[in-house]
Amino acid sequence: MSTITNVVLVGASGALGSRVLEALIDAAVFNITVLARKSSEAQFPSSVQVSHVDYASIAELTVALKGQDAVVSTVGGAGLMNQIPLIEASIAAGVKRFIPSEFGADAGNPNSAKLPVYQRSIAIHKALQEQAKVHPEFSYTLIRNGMFLDWGLVRQYHFAFSSETPPFYDGGDRPFSTTTLYTVGRAVAGVLGHLDETKNRVVYVHDMIVTQRQIMGIAQKFAPEKKWNPVTVDIADLVAKSKESYAKGVFDLNASIGFLCQAVYGEGYGGEFQNVDNELLGIPLKTEADLEELVRDAMSRSGPK
Ligand SMILES: NC(=O)c1ccc[n+]([C@@H]2O[C@H](COP(=O)([O-])OP(=O)(O)OC[C@H]3O[C@@H](n4cnc5c(N)ncnc54)[C@H](OP(=O)(O)O)[C@@H]3O)[C@@H](O)[C@H]2O)c1
Repeated sequence: MSTITNVVLVGASGALGSRVLEALIDAAVFNITVLARKSSEAQFPSSVQVSHVDYASIAELTVALKGQDAVVSTVGGAGLMNQIPLIEASIAAGVKRFIPSEFGADAGNPNSAKLPVYQRSIAIHKALQEQAKVHPEFSYTLIRNGMFLDWGLVRQYHFAFSSETPPFYDGGDRPFSTTTLYTVGRAVAGVLGHLDETKNRVVYVHDMIVTQRQIMGIAQKFAPEKKWNPVTVDIADLVAKSKESYAKGVFDLNASIGFLCQAVYGEGYGGEFQNVDNELLGIPLKTEADLEELVRDAMSRSGPK
């Protein structure tokens, strides 16, 4: 398979997309075009081209994607199903590799695959599998990276520094895979540099495996005066709340927390990756010292929760 030169990044203004863009620019081997909604007011570095598109128009998308080798989608939850026309336009335009907006825990684990929060990603995966069968010149790669590390620390999901009674999900001792946003960007660049090895499959990557209690231990080193009394929260209770919200038609991040906690911290849901593709993608594991730096940074930026 030939190499990738021209890359389109969709949703590059988002929390993840902005760091993926940075990593793709840093790789210094791609011509990058950003696709953004017509309504988007986001600004991008002058080294990238920007195309504002209507995601409902396959014809318009096809024109925007002509001459592109790869499409990387980092759209947020609200835009996930817009990837269906995007995939069709990619095929029409001759795009070789599509990386959808997956970037989560292991939605392929048989228990996680039943969680309502993953049903749209699973539908996109199925659409990609079917299209790749019919169009052998078209291929896809899914990237799973566990919960975001730096993002989750700053938002106090991994450990609520600002609370005296931070939640420990099912006790706080479950090891889980976690990855910084920039490392996800490096994984994207790594996939685009290893087309054959990553063709039509899921790749797994993580910076490290940690537990909530380990993060609290590090936080305690930086704030020895703090008295935290972690409270065990049953994930089953959070899942029940998420089910209630979904039943009322509320599907945002807050409403999804129970399902996401289940996938990341729940026993038997594959939150701790057993096999990763770090070596193939050229991504070394982070060390305890790296984690300390990330925790310290997050604590310095965390306001009251
Ligand atoms: N593993 C984890 O811990 C974790 C955590 C959070 C998110 N994620 C995943 O990471 C991916 C990106 O999430 P994010 O939080 O970075 O996304 P985000 O910031 O909510 O959105 C990313 C971009 O998507 C575009 N967008 C928004 N609504 C859209 C729509 N209706 N149609 C098309 N484009 C739309 C916007 O770009 P423009 O304005 O430029 O068009 C936006 O900046 C998702 O797959 C999400 O599930 C994983």
